[in-house]
Amino acid sequence: MSEKPLAGIKVIDFTGVQAGPACTQMLAWFGADVIKVERPQGGDVTRNQLRDDPDLDALYFTMLNSNKRSLAINTKTPEGKEVMEKLIREADILVENFAPGAMDRMGLGWEHIHELNPRLIFGSVKGFNDDSSWNDLKVYENVAQAAGGAASTTGFWDGPPTISGSALGDSNTGMHLMIGLLTAIIHRNATGVGQKVSVSMQDAVLNLTRVKLRDQQRLEKIGYLEEYPQYPNGEFGDAVPRGGNAGGGGQPGWILKCKGWETDPNAYIYFTVQEQNWKRTAEAIGRPEWVEDPEYTTARARQPHIFEIFAEIEKWLADKTKYEAVDILRKWEVPCAPVLSMKELAEDPDMRKSGTIVEVEQKGRGTYLTVGSPIKFSNFKPEIKGAPLLGEHGSEVLADLGYDANEIVALRDKQIIV
Ligand code: COA
Repeated sequence: MSEKPLAGIKVIDFTGVQAGPACTQMLAWFGADVIKVERPQGGDVTRNQLRDDPDLDALYFTMLNSNKRSLAINTKTPEGKEVMEKLIREADILVENFAPGAMDRMGLGWEHIHELNPRLIFGSVKGFNDDSSWNDLKVYENVAQAAGGAASTTGFWDGPPTISGSALGDSNTGMHLMIGLLTAIIHRNATGVGQKVSVSMQDAVLNLTRVKLRDQQRLEKIGYLEEYPQYPNGEFGDAVPRGGNAGGGGQPGWILKCKGWETDPNAYIYFTVQEQNWKRTAEAIGRPEWVEDPEYTTARARQPHIFEIFAEIEKWLADKTKYEAVDILRKWEVPCAPVLSMKELAEDPDMRKSGTIVEVEQKGRGTYLTVGSPIKFSNFKPEIKGAPLLGEHGSEVLADLGYDANEIVALRDKQIIV
């Protein structure tokens, strides 16, 4: 395919940190022209956060802003606002994820933007949705995981609520927003009218925690959850408990130790006892007598012994590395995988081959690793490029809007743009 799927779509990326940038980065990978609009002083805060080199934009920034252009402009000045309004008149999408009320305070609320360009789609991320009594709160990743049901259902029953290492609050919300924006583009193309698309981080986390709401209703009806470690010997309260590493669906599973676990914190596999594969599972781990034993034949019969079963499997795993174990178990169709460290993923040749992990050129830095597109197309391979320096494309963006060289210099002299 010569033309990228989103070629011709103009996006104003008025976002920062992770939730908004993750969304607009993916739009850029798929071919949209994404202009990141940033504060002249420092730009997106992530440029400066967790730097590994004091003179370079942080990886936090480069890994969420590749393939974009940067315009650094003070949109709180009349001249800066005028530039924004010109951009808005020409754009298809504007995405923002500022603190609640910030767009209105800047004079760039939805009604005004809709008036300026009725075709434009306005994407907005906030911590909580408009109907929430917490909709005035500023929110970061872990706050959203707490509010969206992920924290209360993650971790062990005898420990506190726990935050996931995955960005369920940030990038996940950005991905939800992207689905909404593309839906609104299809609608806009049919009707000629854009709309506001809002996603709250609490809602996006809850959407991924859907099965726990399933469990809440089951618990209220029958008083127990048979697939949780608390069953049948432990206590259930009135809310879904933390289930440790139990399988979230109908198949019990657990993280099991492999050879070397004493010194390697990731020498583990995830092992699933698949109901329909019990015969082969028992044979695989050298306990064929369990196939006919009434104490073990059905999932219900096994559940009271599930931790004895896992302990037996750990004995079988004791002389096998996690890779050796998976190589044996895959032949018996046991759903399982090694627990992979970030180091292992970064070095994984398959990940490089598929483009899920890519090495990208970045001005001044050389190369860095990033996660490429997890979405694969048969006719198009997203090419991941570096991230823009602060204000790198200011002159060309303004020239495209009709500003001449003198006007651009004047804006720069007045420090309205970088
Ligand atoms: N020129 C001039 N001013 C600008 C500007 C520009 N180019 N870009 C942003 N600003 C201003 C904003 O208008 C705002 O001004 P105000 O406070 O006077 O209204 C100010 O910069 C700070 O905005 P923001 O970055 O939103 O504030 P913050 O650093 O205090 O809060 C968050 C950061 C992430 C907590 C907050 O933006 C938020 O809750 N966002 C919604 C949820 C979200 O996306 N969270 C982050 C997930 S990764």
